Amino acid sequence: MEQQEPQLILCEDGSHTIFLPALNETYHSTRGAIPESIHVYLKNGYFETLKPGLLKVLEIGYGTGLNALLTAIEAESRGQQTEYHSLEPYPLSKDIWSALNYGQLLVQESLWSQLNEAVWNEKQILTKYFNLLKEKVKLEDVQLPDEYYDVVYFDGFAPRKQAELWGVNNLKKLYQSMKPGARLVTYTAKAQVRRDLITVGFEAGVVKGPPGKKDMILAIKKEI
Ligand SMILES: C[S@@+](CC[C@H](N)C(=O)[O-])C[C@H]1O[C@@H](n2cnc3c(N)ncnc32)[C@H](O)[C@@H]1O
Repeated sequence: MEQQEPQLILCEDGSHTIFLPALNETYHSTRGAIPESIHVYLKNGYFETLKPGLLKVLEIGYGTGLNALLTAIEAESRGQQTEYHSLEPYPLSKDIWSALNYGQLLVQESLWSQLNEAVWNEKQILTKYFNLLKEKVKLEDVQLPDEYYDVVYFDGFAPRKQAELWGVNNLKKLYQSMKPGARLVTYTAKAQVRRDLITVGFEAGVVKGPPGKKDMILAIKKEI
């Protein structure tokens, strides 16, 4: 997949997203980037895995950094120690991320800059409760620790646009990297992805989707 000429566009809710002409694909639902991210990754993922001690998040596709910003805000307000590991082979340029309005809309401009200025491939302590490792690598190529993550935000481009990302080998790798009881959330509801998640061992089903979308997938690594 080649990353070409990302363009900024405005969603219906007033938040920005990115449009990639080469893929004819946006980074978020054009109904609203912020409500979509809150619903899929925070409400169905992070909030359901809050716990005493360190909560470990893995994100597939750092993209704009919106999920990282929303998670960092919640980590601070809830006093939840959070380790956030995000994979992104094609980081956006500063020209693009600095034009996105998330920091402004969420009144977190300094945290927004901190996240996006953070050096790639090195763990950074960003706030009292939030540390970040943005890794410039594909899911296919990364080595992940065993039974480590509490929650996975699977936020790649749609399976019809980037089928290889959602392949069984990648799903197996994610399954192996998750603790028993951990959850994987994604905006897609595609039946083939759900069947493949079940094949690799998850309990996977659909739950109510974000604004404008009927369903999304929630997968849980069964406790043995
Ligand atoms: C839907 S967009 C990003 C959404 C992002 N979480 C956000 O809030 O902006 C998908 C992202 O996955 C990244 N990506 C593409 N191929 C990938 C791969 N093989 N492994 C991990 N990430 C990938 C893209 O570059 C893009 O940034």
